[in-house]
Order: sequence, then C-alpha cells, then structure tokens
Amino acid sequence: MPSPSPPPPVLPISEHEDEIVAAVDANPVVVVIGETGSGKSTQLSQILHRRGYTRRGAIAVTQPRRVAAVSVSRRVAQELDVPLGDEVGYAIRFEDRTSERTCIKYLTDGVLLHESLSNPELKQYSVIILDEAHERSLNTDILLGLMKRLIKDRASDLKVLITSATLDGLKVSKFFSGCPVLNIPGTLFPVERFYSTERPTNYIESSLRTAIDIHAKEPPGDVLIFMTGKDDIDKMVSKLEERIQNLEEGSCIDALVLPLHGSLPPELQVRVFAPAHPNCRRFIVATNVAETSLTVDGVVFVIDCGYVKQRQYNPSSGMYSLDVVQISRVQADQRAGRAGRTRPGKCYRLYPISIYQNEFLEATVPEIQRSSLAGSVLYLKSLNLPDINILKFDFLDPPSRESLEDALRQLYLIDAIDENGQITDVGRVMAEIPLEPSLSRTLIEANELGCLSQALTVASILSAEITLRSASKDMDGKRKRQELPDGSGWGDHIQLLQIFESWDQSGYDPKWCSDHELQVRSMKLSKDVRNQLCQIIKKIAKGSTDVHARKSRKSDPDYRKLRRALCVGYGNQLAERMLHHNGYHTVGYRTQLVQVHPSSVLEGDEYGKFPMYVIYHELISTTRPYMRNICAVKQAWVEPILKKLEKLDVNRLSGGSSAPKDSELLVENKQVNSLKKDMDVKQSEVD
Ligand code: CDP
Repeated sequence: MPSPSPPPPVLPISEHEDEIVAAVDANPVVVVIGETGSGKSTQLSQILHRRGYTRRGAIAVTQPRRVAAVSVSRRVAQELDVPLGDEVGYAIRFEDRTSERTCIKYLTDGVLLHESLSNPELKQYSVIILDEAHERSLNTDILLGLMKRLIKDRASDLKVLITSATLDGLKVSKFFSGCPVLNIPGTLFPVERFYSTERPTNYIESSLRTAIDIHAKEPPGDVLIFMTGKDDIDKMVSKLEERIQNLEEGSCIDALVLPLHGSLPPELQVRVFAPAHPNCRRFIVATNVAETSLTVDGVVFVIDCGYVKQRQYNPSSGMYSLDVVQISRVQADQRAGRAGRTRPGKCYRLYPISIYQNEFLEATVPEIQRSSLAGSVLYLKSLNLPDINILKFDFLDPPSRESLEDALRQLYLIDAIDENGQITDVGRVMAEIPLEPSLSRTLIEANELGCLSQALTVASILSAEITLRSASKDMDGKRKRQELPDGSGWGDHIQLLQIFESWDQSGYDPKWCSDHELQVRSMKLSKDVRNQLCQIIKKIAKGSTDVHARKSRKSDPDYRKLRRALCVGYGNQLAERMLHHNGYHTVGYRTQLVQVHPSSVLEGDEYGKFPMYVIYHELISTTRPYMRNICAVKQAWVEPILKKLEKLDVNRLSGGSSAPKDSELLVENKQVNSLKKDMDVKQSEVD
C-alpha cells in the first residue's frame, strides 16, 4: 500500500503554472530558473503531465545524481498517490524501476545518454527536462549539445526544459538561439551571514564548536552542516553526538544528528525528509548534495566550512586527484540560502569575508573541464551524427583540446577507434556497455578468451563504486583480506574476483563477509550490479549466455586469460617497473613516475621484485602519485600495445573524425551484428 499522500505543496513553481505552460506550448526550449526548493524537480513534471503532455510520450527528468533521481521520484509518486515504478518511476545505472505505464521517469543524465544510443531521436519522450543544470555535470553538458541537435529533428513534437537554481540563464538561452528564460521568484527569507576572522586550522573542530553554540543559545530550528565527504561526516556525526550527550541534562532541547551523502542507503536518506519536530533540533551533516540537489526543510542555521571535495583529472599525466578545494561564491550563496527557506535564518561561514570576496572563484569549474573524456568521446563517436568532429562539437563550455586529444589517444590504444579516429566495431559494442571504456573493452576481450564470467565479476565490483573493506583500514584489515585465498601474486583485480567467488561458495553468507571484515552491504551491491550487468550483456549479445559466478579455475590456474583481457582493456593504463627498485613509470604517450598504492595486495617475488609490467585501474595523486587496483601482466601481451603506440599520430586521430557515408555505415552495422553474433557463440562456450 502506498503511504497516504501529503497535502499538495504550494510551491513557487506551482504558482506560475499557467506562465510555464504557455512558454512551453510556444517554444521548443525553455529555461526555468528558480530557487532550490521552489519545486522545479518535483512539480514541473506533474504540471506538464496534468496539462496533457504525456499523451504523446513520457516525460523524462534527468538528474546528475543517483540519490536525487531515486528520492525525487519517490516523492512525486507519493504526491500522486501511485506506487513507485508505475506511472512514476526511476532509472539509474544498474537499476530500473519503471514499467510500460511509466509516464514520468526520473533518470540520471548518463542513463538518458545511453538510451539515446538505441533510440537516437528519443521518440519515447514528449518532454525532456534537464534538471539541476547548474551542477554542470559532464553528462548534462553533453546532453545540452545533443538537445540542440534533437530539437531541430523533432521540432514539432519535443519540448526541452532546462532548469537550474543558479545557472546563468542568458548564456544557456544564447546557446539555444535565444530561447525564453523564466525566472521564478523564490520566497527566501533574509539570511544573516557571520564570518570567521581567520580560517580555522581544523574545520571539523570549528564546526563542532559552532554547532554546540547554536544548540545552547539559539531558539529551535534545524542546523545544516556542510562537510567535504563521507569520512568527515562520520567523524562529525560521532563527535557531535558525544558532545550533545555531555551537555548538562535539561539545558537544551532534544537533538538528533543525521548524516546525508550520496552513498547513504536509501532507508537512511529518507530520514532527513521527515517533518521537523518542534521540540527536537536536527543536525544534518551533509556533503554538497544538500546545496541544491536535495532540499531539506526546517533548516534555520547553516554552518559552511567553505570547502568541497572535488575530483580533478589532469590530461597531461592521466592522473586523478581528489582534492579538498575552496567552494565558489555561487556555492557559498547556495549554502547560505538553505537557512532561509522557512523563516529568517543564520549562516556561519568558517572563513573571512576577504576569502569569500577575493579567493573564491565566481562559479564552480564544470565537470567537462576536469574529467577524463574517453567515455564521452566514445559515446559521441558512436552516435554517427553527420558532420561531427569531436574537436568542434557544440559544448556550452568546451573542454580543452588537450583533454579531447587525450581521450582520442586512450580510445585508440584500446581499439575503440582506428588510427584515423573512426570508431571501430569493437568501439561500437563498447559504447553499448554501460561501463567505463577500459572495463567494457576488458569484457569484450574476456569473451574472446573465454573468461567472461570472471571479468563480469571484476567489472561489477569496480564499477559499483564501493569499498568492500570494513571501516578498519589499518594493517589488520589488510592482513585479514590477505587471509582470503591467494591472489597477492597477481594483484587486486584477481583478489576482488577471489573474494566474490569465495563468498559465492559460502552461499552468499553474510557471516562469511563479517568474518573477513568485508561490508555485507557492499558485497550485496556488487552482486546486484553483476546480475544487472549480465542482463545487459545478454541483451547486447542477443542470446543465452552462461555467466554464472561459481567457476572452477582448473583450466586457468594463474588467471592468465583474465589478466590478458585486463591488459587489453587497460592498454592505456600500463606501467613498467624501474630497473633497480620497485617504483614504476607509466607507459604511453605520457610518462610519469608512480608507486604501487599501499592498499594493494600485489606482492614481490621471492627476491622482493615486483612484476615487470602491471596495468592499473586508476592513477591518483594523494601524498604522491599512486596506481590503485593493479594487476600483473606479461611482457608478450604488452608488445602489441607498444607497437600501436609507435603508430600513434594524434593529428590523424583528431583530423579523420568525420563520419563515414551512409553506405559505409550500412556495411559497418552489418559487421557489428556479426561481431555481436560472434559474442553470442563465444559466450555459450564460456567456461
Ligand atoms: O527542484 P527544486 O530544488 O526547485 O525543489 P524540489 O526538489 O522540487 O522540492 C520542492 C519541495 O519538495 C521541497 O519542499 C522539498 O523539501 C520537497 N521534497 C521532499 O520532501 N522530498 C524529496 N525527495 C524532494 C523534495
């Protein structure tokens, strides 16, 4: 039974219903700008549904974050009093809760991109709402470019809405040939801002003191505390709970401390949406998801540490760094605004006003300018758009030429494009698999070599973005992990596979996980992802496949086939050991000295020597450059990659990217089908 629907909210968006519908009726593209919490995510889709827009197709609402897609669809289903997955549903990578009846579909921007591969015109939708465009996620930026093309082809039957809390409306309007911009006035109450005189040396401690001060001196009202990531949040939650308990009994009202971040299980996330209680102060300790993606009602006080955790890719070294960086002024103002939704509020900024004015950037750098673009470029290449030259694709803010060329080189080394920059048959199949290019290439190779089942397991664990290990990251945790069957001579991918296979052998026993200090929830998640991935692969291969996890490795005792497949998939993420010590340098068009990450299970031989060649899942820069998730590979497998490197000519790669003629495409598609059939045959031979 669905829970009883709450009274319909009267939100600013709903008050402007007629104006919005008139603009949408008259224009193919409309930009809607409104305060966070004004109802853009929950109401726009319902308004257009009520006004008959779902008669010709469904309404898609994209979200950059999975957590928002799930939580907003749940809320809308509740408001319409329908079971989730019926008229209202959501689709995120590896999870689809929609049915044939679904007419309001919340989905991540990545899922919509993927849907457009099999249905380039997205005919199933009459309306596409790109929500939270101000987040400027990589996928939303690509979708903006794509929508610009699509509205030309579907001028008569597609409406596109772009919504944002802060986005520069004029810039987007210009991008869409002067489309109308609706500014929905918000109902924000004034928020008083307090600044620190200097940056605290420890912002967790400083946030704690401020929180306790508010609790002791201020009238009831919830407190939203911005932290940079899950680790900080966990620390903050436990310390805050401890300090509140130590307060003199009866000196303050009751308090409840709640974490809020993207990797929180859904049942814990919903707690922050429960109505606030007048005699209990809630402290919500959140990442930047609470800036604009999720609206928490009842907040009167905001504590802003002024930092955010940001992933940054450097195309000249191929390295990711996860840095705690200063927020932008737009972010700071969004954070402050959270305090003024229900009544006048207060925002405590743990930095001086001079830093806000002189050091913070005006706006956050869009993700497209700080990510590896290999996946996006492969996607664009696979669309077969006429006249497309990747270097000239119409981006709202173009990425650097260096990062586009980096993407082309990466794709070439793993056979997704040829030396002229044309997408290959392998590349087309890769684009259909919702994994990053290195993993989709590994799966295709594993299928050829007859170890698809094992590769699926490894890909699932790596792409579920989880940590299997329990909270204890100390040596003890590492030792326990090593007590699992062998693995250390070949590296982390193999270890992950062995962990999963042993768990499978235990009958997926939760006790087995806790005995080995593995997180049961993460293990279950990787199993779910694996099941989903198997379905997807079967669909692509169009046939029955045997991808069961429980396998005997009698025929391949040293995981040679899987390691070889990994070597092909990660051909652009290869490192060679230095002659006289265990340091490595990366192999390829850019070289970089790197170390094996201390968490790796890879071990040296009896002389302490590490393998000559390894592939790595990612390069991260923390205290120094590290390779994380490493697998030992053989020199003979590396040689073909070195040969390709010799032939690599980036001018050819980027210059030859115009699409082939239609007649050539027909031939190519035939080849793809035969490759898929081939996959089918080979899969039935798997293990
Ligand atoms: O998209 P925008 O920030 O403009 O607002 P919204 O997400 O549509 O939120 C409108 C209202 O719905 C707010 O009062 C939210 O607190 C509420 N809401 C909710 O209760 N649960 C959700 N999962 C999402 C929104």
